[in-house]
Amino acid sequence: MVTATITSSPAVRAADPASEEPAYLACRGVHKSFGTTTVVRGIDLSLSRGECVALLGPSGCGKSTLLNMIAGILEVDRGVITCDGVTMDDPTRGVRLPMQKRHFALVFQDFSLWPHMTVRENVAFGLRMRGIRGRKRRERTDRALERVQMGGYARRQPAELSGGQQQRVAIARAMAVEPRVLLLDEPLSALDARLREELRDELSDLIRDLNMTTIFVTHDQIEALTMADRIAVMNDGVIEQIGSPQEIYTRPQTAYVAQFVGISTLVPYEVRDGLVFIGGVQLAVNNLPGRPSGRCMVRREAIIVHAPDRSAPAPVADAGAKHEGHLSINAVCTQARYLGGTYDITARDQAGAHWRGLAREPIRAGEAVRLTFSVEALCFLAR
Ligand SMILES: Nc1ncnc2c1ncn2[C@@H]1O[C@H](COP(=O)(O)OP(=O)(O)OP(=O)(O)O)[C@@H](O)[C@H]1O
Ligand SMILES: [Mg+2]
Repeated sequence: MVTATITSSPAVRAADPASEEPAYLACRGVHKSFGTTTVVRGIDLSLSRGECVALLGPSGCGKSTLLNMIAGILEVDRGVITCDGVTMDDPTRGVRLPMQKRHFALVFQDFSLWPHMTVRENVAFGLRMRGIRGRKRRERTDRALERVQMGGYARRQPAELSGGQQQRVAIARAMAVEPRVLLLDEPLSALDARLREELRDELSDLIRDLNMTTIFVTHDQIEALTMADRIAVMNDGVIEQIGSPQEIYTRPQTAYVAQFVGISTLVPYEVRDGLVFIGGVQLAVNNLPGRPSGRCMVRREAIIVHAPDRSAPAPVADAGAKHEGHLSINAVCTQARYLGGTYDITARDQAGAHWRGLAREPIRAGEAVRLTFSVEALCFLAR
């Protein structure tokens, strides 16, 4: 038996944590339906000035719809959107600020550049529309192009650029007008893996340098984890959880978030007489989870899988120790995949639960293994 303090997840938050700070950009109870289908269901989201938030979720969960409402492209059915204290949308009061008066820049999924214009003309276009002329326009255009390393391509037309280069021009065009808010819809989705990684870091630096209030849509968890100050994980038109990348990753509140971000094991737990039972193993914890039964999560990298013949040091369970307990679970390997350096192991315990962990040595399916991890790595889910 192991004694340790396990911190259970707090209850699922109804609103996001930034709601107590003065918000620069805020959505309150925003709804949107197409016909009889509701695709955005009462979204509350607040950003402070200069903050970068990722809307992360699977295809069809309403990310682009929410972004387009904020941009002013789509009408809000219900709810309020404000920026810098000014109401942009409030259908009950008949308020709807036109897109061009919001001073937001939106980069689309397909980054739609004007094909008949050169790169320079594309970037300068928005400035021209805003009445910025002469040297100032040239300088701002050049600066925007330099920022995305496209200075050498100013005279080309979009058709003469790769997808990644076109994407950079689209971002330069958005940045050049120095918008109040930058809205990006899957800005990197059209790129191949290597360029995507490169441009992800570049874009992340750009957003930080410019201290731009940014919302970007993605279904790529790495993009969200590396680029955002906070991640809003969306599920079927609602924000399931919002928090820093670390919070989302290490303390998901729901099974949906745990499974959407990262690779993990979800196992049932039960509380009986102050003892928590997990995967046939009994734990005594100082802080009981909020519910008598449910599921808890452990990240794959927190679980070390030991080959049958090389036993790990016996888990030390000092009854008085806090945060030092280790769990050891006997299981049978059902699948092993080489990841380069480590092996991704799936193993079934005696209670029938499937665990994912990492092994440093090769293990074959059918072999008995031992899984060890710190009780600290356990996260009890609210649902
Ligand atoms: N103009 C529209 N008319 C009818 N249904 C729409 C319209 N726009 C979006 N939808 C539907 O609303 C839902 C949410 O769409 P949305 O584009 O917001 O999803 P998404 O999260 O951005 O997905 P993806 O990752 O595929 O871009 C989808 O089921 C979509 O088919
Ligand atoms: Mg979309």
